[in-house]
Amino acid sequence: EKGGWSSFMAKEVSEEPEAVANTVRGRVHDGQVVIPELEGLDDLFTGIRRIIVVACGTAAYAGQTGKYALEQWTRIPTDVELAHEFRYRDPVIGEDTLVVSISQSGETMDTLMAVKYAREQGAKTLSICNTQGATIPRESDAVVYTHAGPEVAVASTKAFVAQITALYLLGLHVARLRGSLDADAAAQAVAELEAVPEKIQLVLENEQQHIEQFSRWMADTQSVLFLGRHVGYPIALEGALKLKEISYIHAEGFAAGELKHGPIALVEPGQPVFVIVPSPRHSGELHKKVVSNIQEIRARGARVIVVAEEGDAAVLPFADEVLRIPLADPLFEPLLAVVPLHIFAMGLSTAKGLDVDKPRNLAKSVTVE
Ligand code: M6R
Repeated sequence: EKGGWSSFMAKEVSEEPEAVANTVRGRVHDGQVVIPELEGLDDLFTGIRRIIVVACGTAAYAGQTGKYALEQWTRIPTDVELAHEFRYRDPVIGEDTLVVSISQSGETMDTLMAVKYAREQGAKTLSICNTQGATIPRESDAVVYTHAGPEVAVASTKAFVAQITALYLLGLHVARLRGSLDADAAAQAVAELEAVPEKIQLVLENEQQHIEQFSRWMADTQSVLFLGRHVGYPIALEGALKLKEISYIHAEGFAAGELKHGPIALVEPGQPVFVIVPSPRHSGELHKKVVSNIQEIRARGARVIVVAEEGDAAVLPFADEVLRIPLADPLFEPLLAVVPLHIFAMGLSTAKGLDVDKPRNLAKSVTVE
């Protein structure tokens, strides 16, 4: 039931902290990740040379986000593929491939068919799923459940943060088995993960009203762009999908580095652009590069809404709105940066008088191909 909430989506966004906390619970022992469901299944991970994540929609964006940590921690090359594209291109897979499917419902036909195909080709299969006993986990060699609780709103929110959490747990579990991550780095990652729920709660407390306010002013907006880089890129894609889904307006997510290769032509005066700003502590000078992207779009009249970590003052001169997230290790930032985008999509949909929970033309679970 909705309880006192205006929509299931509002309730489910408020449950994002617990979705992460409940997914981590019982899977950390003495500062190390040990996933009980994977006990006795070490063989699934020892001989593999490749991971392919298959999923659709928001679950695929969770996969794209998780790829960075999976590769960094396990050193296993990882690709993410839309489930419905996967089996139509004769992919090179075999017993050295672990195919990880992600699905909230566990019933998405496109994802199920990708898993069946992977099995037929001899690949190992692991499902990340939010629904106990659903079809996809039953068709897989192993399952790691997300514990987000039932998600009713068509737009996926708390399941998304739980899916990224499960991928991170999987990465740390596999890294432990393979000895690919030193103990300090693993312990640090676990501590970061355990701190996420509280930080999401802070974002909800500090930014919800602010975002709802400016989404009301934006009720007539025709198009919104989202820019991100590294782990911020899939978050930009997720922000755009959510907006399309429940606000029915044109929204697109781009990798910020791609801007000058085309999308900047879209920017005209008044165009709202969300920018997920990587932490200044991120390696590779990404922060500077994204700040210079912000200057470029601002010079062309964009209305810039930044999502940036607390204390990042470099963004202030160029931003119309600043949404703050608490400090976190860069790999954990997406779990925080997505929260304002979920709130914004909900705010805009509400401001337009639309049904937040049941957008037109969409079903919660897509059980046809
Ligand atoms: O149940 P699944 O996670 O397999 O669903 C996959 C997508 O259909 C789903 O994430 C969809 O994109 C959401 N409605 C997005 O909010």
